Amino acid sequence: MAHQDALIAQDIDAYLKVHETKSMLRFLTCGSVDDGKSTLIGRLLYDSKMIFEDQLAALESDSKTVGTQGGAIDFALLVDGLAAEREQGITIDVAYRFFSTEKRKFIVADTPGHEQYTRNMVTGASTADAAIILIDARKGVLTQTRRHSYLVKLLGIRHVILAINKMDLVNWSRETFDKILADYRVFAEKIGITTFTAIPMSALNGDNILDRSAHTPWYDGPTLMGLLEVLPVEDDLAAKPFRMPVQWVNRPNLDFRGFSGLVATGTVKRGDQIRALPSARTSTVERIVTKDGDLEQAVAGQSITITLKDEIDISRGDVIVCANAPAQVADQFETTIVWMDDQPMLPGRALLMKLGARTVGASITEPKYKVNVNTMEHVAAKRLELNEIGVCNVSLDTPVAFEAYTESRDLGGFILIDRFTNRTAGAGMIHFALRRSENIHWQALEVSKAARASLKRQSPAVLWFTGLSGAGKSTIANLVEKKLHSLGRHTYLLDGDNVRHGLNRDLGFTDEDRVENIRRVAEVSRLMAEAGLIVLVSFISPFRAERRMARTRVGDEDFIEIHIDTPLAVAESRDVKGLYKKARAGQLKNFTGIDSPYETPEAPELRIDTTDLSPEEAAEQICAYLQSRGSHA
Ligand code: ADX
Repeated sequence: MAHQDALIAQDIDAYLKVHETKSMLRFLTCGSVDDGKSTLIGRLLYDSKMIFEDQLAALESDSKTVGTQGGAIDFALLVDGLAAEREQGITIDVAYRFFSTEKRKFIVADTPGHEQYTRNMVTGASTADAAIILIDARKGVLTQTRRHSYLVKLLGIRHVILAINKMDLVNWSRETFDKILADYRVFAEKIGITTFTAIPMSALNGDNILDRSAHTPWYDGPTLMGLLEVLPVEDDLAAKPFRMPVQWVNRPNLDFRGFSGLVATGTVKRGDQIRALPSARTSTVERIVTKDGDLEQAVAGQSITITLKDEIDISRGDVIVCANAPAQVADQFETTIVWMDDQPMLPGRALLMKLGARTVGASITEPKYKVNVNTMEHVAAKRLELNEIGVCNVSLDTPVAFEAYTESRDLGGFILIDRFTNRTAGAGMIHFALRRSENIHWQALEVSKAARASLKRQSPAVLWFTGLSGAGKSTIANLVEKKLHSLGRHTYLLDGDNVRHGLNRDLGFTDEDRVENIRRVAEVSRLMAEAGLIVLVSFISPFRAERRMARTRVGDEDFIEIHIDTPLAVAESRDVKGLYKKARAGQLKNFTGIDSPYETPEAPELRIDTTDLSPEEAAEQICAYLQSRGSHA
C-alpha cells in the first residue's frame, strides 16, 4: 500500500475520505490456468502494492516450495488460495479480490475456465462492469475464448478487454497479435460484441500491465491497469426511470411507515408521484429518510426509506417506480436460463424465482432450445443439464414488476432456487413478457369449495397413493373408494394407467414426462377437491418435488400422502403385469425401480408395507386412519 502510506501516516481521516470517494470497478477474468490468469491477477495485486506484508512473506516461501517459477515469486499462488487448487493446479471456485490504486478501487472475480464451471462464471459476472478475456498468444482464439465471450455478452458486461498474454513466448510478434485480433473480431461481431480492447502483454514479466513494455513499440493502446483505471463504470443508472425494490417495510411505531430499499435506477425527489407495483396504486413521496437525515432527492445506488402521503398497501418485494414511466408487470416470460444444478432442469417442476427483492413460486413451462456455447448453434432441448444455457418460457405463481435484462440487471436478472435444497439451481435473464399473461385473469366464483362440500356433507380431501409399479396402489385405492362410497361419500379415483389413456396419452416415462404427468394430475385432483370430492390418486409419482408440488397445490390440510411401501423385490416377484420381466430383459426402458429412480417419501401421512398384508387389510388401515382424522370416513 506504498502509495497510500504517507497519507495514512499524516491524516487518517483524509486517507479514508479519499478512499471512500474513489469509484469502484468490478471486473472478472476469464481464461484457463494455462492462459496465465492467476498470474495476471497476482501481478495486478502485487504491482498495486495491495498485498499485505505477511501475505508477501508467505508467498515468497510458498514460491520456493511449490511454485512453478523456479524460486522467483509465483503470482499464481496468491490467487490459487484453496488447498485443492494447489494440489490439482486448477482454480475451482469464484474468488473475489479487492485492491486499489490512487485512482480507483477494484473488485476482481476470478472465475475458472473449465467447461463445467460456467456456473462460477455467471456468479462472478453478475455485477461486473468489465471482463478480461485471456488468450495465450501461442494458441490464439480457442473454443473456450468463444464460450467466455458468449457468456460475457449474454450477461450484459459492457467492456471487453482481450488480454493477449505470453507475448514473450512468441517473440513479441506483431503479426501474431494482429492475427489473433482479426480472428477475434470476426467472432465477436457474430455474437454482438462491437467494441473491445486488445492488449499484448506478459503477465509473468509485467509487460503492459502497469508500465508500458519496451517490447511493443508497435502498440499504442493503453496498459491493462491504465485501461482499468479509466473505463466508465455504470454511471448512467441515475438517468434511467426511478425504480426501488422494497427490501423491508419500516414501521418502528404507529406514526411512521416507510419503505426501505436501494435505489436501483433513476432519481426520486420529494413530491414525486410514484406507483407501487404490482398493485399499481399511486401516491406522492412525502419524505426521503436516510441515516444521515432527510434528503430532497436520492439517486441510483443510495439506500433510502421513503414515506408516502397516502396509506397504500406496499409489502416487501414490491417495487416503487415513478408514476409516469412505470415498469411492467407480468407472470409469464421468455428468458435465457443458465442451469447450475447437478439435478437437471425439468419443465413443470416447482421452483422459486428471486427477482429484485421478491421471491415467488415459478416453473419453467417450455424450453425452446439450448445454445451450444462452443459453436453458438441452437439445439432442440426438453431439459437443461448442469451448465447448459437455454431459452425457456417461465411461468410465475403471481405477477411481478420487471424489466428486460438489457434495461436493468436488477429487475431483469433472476435466480431460480430449488425448493428442497434451497440451492441456487439456475440464473436467468428476462427477454420480455408473454402477452398471454396480461390477457388471462382470474374469474371470481361465488359458490365456494366449502359450499360445495357442505352440500355433500363431507370434507374434501386428496388421498395420494405413491409407490412402485405393482406395489398394490390401485388395488388398495379401489378398495378404499368402495368403502367410502358405501358410507355415502362422494369420491373419484384417478388411476395412472387410466389417466394415461386419456388426458395424459401424449406422455411417456422419461423424467420430463413424469413431471408433467404428475403436474397435470395434481391440478385435476385439486379441481376435484374444489368441487367437494374426496379424490383418490394412484400414480407411481416417483419424484419428491412433484409430490410436494401436489401437496402445495391441494393445500396441506387436505392432502394425505399414502406410501404403499412394498419393497422392489416383492413387487417384482408379484409382477402382475409382466412389466418387471420386460424391464429386466431390456425391452422396457426407464422402468421405475430398475433404471428410473423412485424417491422414497420422507414424511407421508401413512406408510404401508404390503409384504405381509392383504389388500383388504391395507385398505382397512387406511380407513381407520381416515376415521381417526375425524372427517372423511
Ligand atoms: S408415473 O411415474 O408417471 O407416476 P404412472 O403411475 O402414471 O407413472 O404410470 C405407471 C404405470 O405405467 C405402471 O403401473 C405401469 O403399468 C405402466 N408403465 C409402463 N411403462 C412404465 C415404466 N417405464 N415405468 C413405470 N411404469 C410403467
